[in-house]
Amino acid sequence: MSLRTKGAAGAGLLAAGMLALVWAYNYGGGSDPGLLDRSGPAVTWALATTKLVFNLASAGTIGALVLALFALPHCGTAYDRALRFAGWSAAVWFISATVHTYASFLFIANTSPWTGPSAAFLTYLTQIDAGRAGALASVLAGAVAVSCFRVRSPRLLAGTAAAAFAGLLPLVIKSHAAGGTDHADSTTAIFLHAATAAVWVGGLLALIVIRGVLSTGQLGLTVRRYSTLALICFICLAVTGTLGALVRITTAEALLSPYGVIVLAKCGVFVILGVFGALHRRWSITRMEKNPGRRGRHFAALAVAELAVMGAASGMAAALARTEPPARTGAEAVRKVGAQEFVALLPEPGLGEFISGWAPDPLWSLVCGFAVFAYLAGLRRVHAAGRSWPVYRTALWLAGIAVLFMVTNGGIHVYQGYLFNAHVLTQTMLTAVVPLLLVPAAPLTLARQTVQARTDGSTGVKEFVSHTVNPPLATLRKDPVLIIFVLAAALITIYYTPLLDWAAAGQIGYSAMSLLALLTGCLATAALTGIQEPGLTRKRLLALAGTASLYVFGGWKIVEKAPAMELPWYTAVGKPWGLSPTAAAEMGGPVMWATAALWLAITAAMVLLRRDPNSRNPLPRCGNSSAPESAFGHDALKARGAKHDEGSNQQAAGQRR
Ligand code: HEM
Repeated sequence: MSLRTKGAAGAGLLAAGMLALVWAYNYGGGSDPGLLDRSGPAVTWALATTKLVFNLASAGTIGALVLALFALPHCGTAYDRALRFAGWSAAVWFISATVHTYASFLFIANTSPWTGPSAAFLTYLTQIDAGRAGALASVLAGAVAVSCFRVRSPRLLAGTAAAAFAGLLPLVIKSHAAGGTDHADSTTAIFLHAATAAVWVGGLLALIVIRGVLSTGQLGLTVRRYSTLALICFICLAVTGTLGALVRITTAEALLSPYGVIVLAKCGVFVILGVFGALHRRWSITRMEKNPGRRGRHFAALAVAELAVMGAASGMAAALARTEPPARTGAEAVRKVGAQEFVALLPEPGLGEFISGWAPDPLWSLVCGFAVFAYLAGLRRVHAAGRSWPVYRTALWLAGIAVLFMVTNGGIHVYQGYLFNAHVLTQTMLTAVVPLLLVPAAPLTLARQTVQARTDGSTGVKEFVSHTVNPPLATLRKDPVLIIFVLAAALITIYYTPLLDWAAAGQIGYSAMSLLALLTGCLATAALTGIQEPGLTRKRLLALAGTASLYVFGGWKIVEKAPAMELPWYTAVGKPWGLSPTAAAEMGGPVMWATAALWLAITAAMVLLRRDPNSRNPLPRCGNSSAPESAFGHDALKARGAKHDEGSNQQAAGQRR
């Protein structure tokens, strides 16, 4: 039975994928290589079909790895079978990536495949961007395959999963998404899109593959955990697909272009997949839990049909990647003649523009959306458990996310692509200002209080936080002076490595810079403002003094090296606002000093307010313990924090029992 289901699932996925590819490739015109083409139809079709196999095999790899790491106990037959399935999928992925790279070579070299391999292919692999991207994707797929067969430690497999996700990037960066003179960059959107599609499709496929070896209890649990992942993927796919499509489809005519119609068809398929998801959540999973003996037959049958529909979406996607996007009109047509003309449409930057501008970012729209949802869901659980949670924490969290959203989707993001000092403002707001709001909101405490611990040896959110987030935080809390090095490393990476160019040139670079800026800022703030332990106040003040000199030096270097640092921006758009002071690259220095001063002042105040009573502190206490409570009073905070965190200790104690 189970073998037949697996066969049907795989065959349905591939057959539906091929059928949808044939339709979309012909309809979109991708299968017509043009009059001058000498590579021939074999190459034209090999490009699209190997891309489909690439998408499905990478999905099988990534989905099975994520399922093994997130939903399964890290030992046993199911875990082993999921990893072997990931290994074989990665092997297919490696082959499809290699053949796709060779087909792209033949297409670009306009050579027929029957002429046989030539030395030019080696040059293509080593010196041509598209060739290098294909080679890198193949090597990563190959390495992931070997690792899935050899490695079983969850930590190393997490690295393997990261490599697998990275394996999607080279071809996305070399695809339509990369932007150019005729449309903006949407690489992060399409990377996140392809990555979530991989987790969704591959996770379901892997579930079918391991269903036979899961105990009845474990089957229900695993399907429920996958269902949570699937819902997150569903939302991410919709947001990233829409943002990716809107970069190319800006008018009604463009929507009715062949490219637009294929995107609409994908939207239709997406809605059908939403119905499947609802059916699983409302019917098949409940039935499975009600009659565990039937081993989820209804779930499996529904999943086989769903995989065929997913195959159709993947087939259209592979064709879409080789379909000419619609021509531009209106503002976008101006951009056609280059970013310089486009930027000339933008008003001179200023506070008003930074507040009123709008440039949605796929990554940060999703992060902000999920961050608000997760925090409010946690709050609901705390209240449902009859406990309270300080209102100021919720207010701080929502304010922090609002500022994060404004910085990464608002006017500062509009100008970040054209103005070096807007880039510095982005980095310093994410490292210094946003963490001052997010960290005191105590999200980790809320997670500790509300997320259920896993008892079957698998890794959920709680285990991830305690194994991955808490250890570095504890190290920095114990030795806060290390923060100076963490922040220095982040600043050097952001301003003195190729990341500066990448962040100026495209979405992926911007995403990497902004993630690094925010994570290091949160780590530094959390390590300096966390619960006080005896003897730490002096070290914390030392860390603050060191950080202050770091920012003074960093800002000075920016002022000194501004002309060189703004080069990637200057090359792209010149100096659209001439010598206006708000557009001057040198402004980056004062921007860094101002935001750093704000962070240092508030963090120092929190350190002093939370200083340990035993510290022979040279600074006079700001109030005696009998002083009335204030929102940020040390004792008040300590008392308040303890009272509210009590719950988590009790809860943790309860679980241990
Ligand atoms: C809301 C529905 C969706 C929209 C608006 C959408 C839109 C897009 C767009 C615009 C692209 C970029 C194509 C290009 O390179 O020009 C894309 C790529 C892709 N889409 Fe979707 N999509 C949707 C749903 C799906 C679904 C349901 C799946 C699979 C289950 C999927 C899988 C993919 C994959 C794998 C790619 C990468 C294609 C490649 O580069 O080979 N998409 N999608």
